[in-house]
Amino acid sequence: MINHKDTNTTKGHKSVSFVSPAALWFNASSSMSDPLLLWRDEFPILQHTTYLISNSLGAMPRAVPGALAAYAHAWATRGVRAWESNRVPAAECGPGNDRRTPHSELRTSHLEDGWWEMPIAVGDMVAPLIGASPGEVSMHQNVTLASAMVLSCFDFRPPRNRIVLNELEFPSVRYVYQALRDSGAELVVVPSDDGIRVPTGRMIEAIDERTLLVPFSHVLYRSACIQDVAAITAGAHRMGAYVVLDTYHSAGVLPLDVQGLAVDFAVGGVLKWLCGGPGAAFLYVRPDLGAHLKPRLAGWQAHRRPFAFEGEMDLREDAWRFLTGTPQVPALYAARPGLEIINKVGVANIRAKSVCQTSLLVELARERGWRVNSPLDAAERRELRFAYRPSPAAVTGNRLGHEALDVGVLFSHAQNAAIAENHEGGVAVARSTAYIEPSFALVPAGP
Ligand SMILES: Cc1ncc(COP(=O)(O)O)c(C=O)c1O
Repeated sequence: MINHKDTNTTKGHKSVSFVSPAALWFNASSSMSDPLLLWRDEFPILQHTTYLISNSLGAMPRAVPGALAAYAHAWATRGVRAWESNRVPAAECGPGNDRRTPHSELRTSHLEDGWWEMPIAVGDMVAPLIGASPGEVSMHQNVTLASAMVLSCFDFRPPRNRIVLNELEFPSVRYVYQALRDSGAELVVVPSDDGIRVPTGRMIEAIDERTLLVPFSHVLYRSACIQDVAAITAGAHRMGAYVVLDTYHSAGVLPLDVQGLAVDFAVGGVLKWLCGGPGAAFLYVRPDLGAHLKPRLAGWQAHRRPFAFEGEMDLREDAWRFLTGTPQVPALYAARPGLEIINKVGVANIRAKSVCQTSLLVELARERGWRVNSPLDAAERRELRFAYRPSPAAVTGNRLGHEALDVGVLFSHAQNAAIAENHEGGVAVARSTAYIEPSFALVPAGP
């Protein structure tokens, strides 16, 4: 049910007039029969907050406390045996394990232990979201490390020592690539004209026979612009280069087929749109390529006989080959409920709803002459960002660039952009749209 409280009473914004997006959205999509709305109950924060900041941290699924209790229970009762697989009966998982869900079809894999296997077992839950097969995805602490794992497979010696990336890529990833200049890598940074997109042709022209790697985002974090994975990958392959696709803002919310597109490497994290919390990122490596690579960062989880504690590395041939040392077990427990929900809801359904919501917002913004910092064409747009002018009287900023309005609306103004579309944990919701007015009132572009 949509709750209409407070939409017009944001302190300091009573004078702002607007057409209610909620009303339009209702008319357009028959939300009462929208099956995605049923999933709202799985996200406790939605009871009291309009959560417009999945681009930073996705909402926590209701099953996460139970999953973390299951982790503690396994540690407490099974001790070191928790490294081995064991299905834990839900009743044993102690307080916090609330399994009363309207979605009884949800599996309970988030309660299982088997800690050693978890980096690949959780990777198996990511695999269908990006078009990979079971056993092809490994879990890591973050994308920076997953990218470093890829880089550790290569030498950057001329004549093939170039890395071609565009200026709108996420900084942390850029830092890792830039650091390689000391090891002989040459960086080619492809510019953007508008801060929203980088022309595909320009990216492809920058790739030549000196190019070794082309790291690029499926969806640009600044503008939510969708980049042409097929064209850039084909362009890189024509020149004998490899692509490293950052799927942080696309996995689970935009259809992707890494196998069909012959993507060499894909990285991403569960923190945002996959509602998996911090500490779990993923790496896909094209299996026929991976079997021949020698990652220098690999640790004992990558060894064929890790418990023989041999003096020399003997790399496995599968995705385990790209693992390091002891896995981040609690984070992997926390990641499973969100992945389960997104798999159940379906990427195509999430994408369809996102297109519907963002199209409405674009229409409303344009009516008001507000600047949209994202592509106007839905086919080129994943989420939506607006030019933003902070309103100190109404908001409490913090150094992370988040703002909490007194009506319980959370959004981001990092990079001078506010997120004005949200599917609240990978699942688009009507109430979010109904409550978007306060943040809309804050986002008209300044002069
Ligand atoms: C496109 C993209 N890549 C990577 C990251 C984060 O990288 P890491 O997992 O190393 O923190 C972000 C975070 O916002 C991002 O937007």
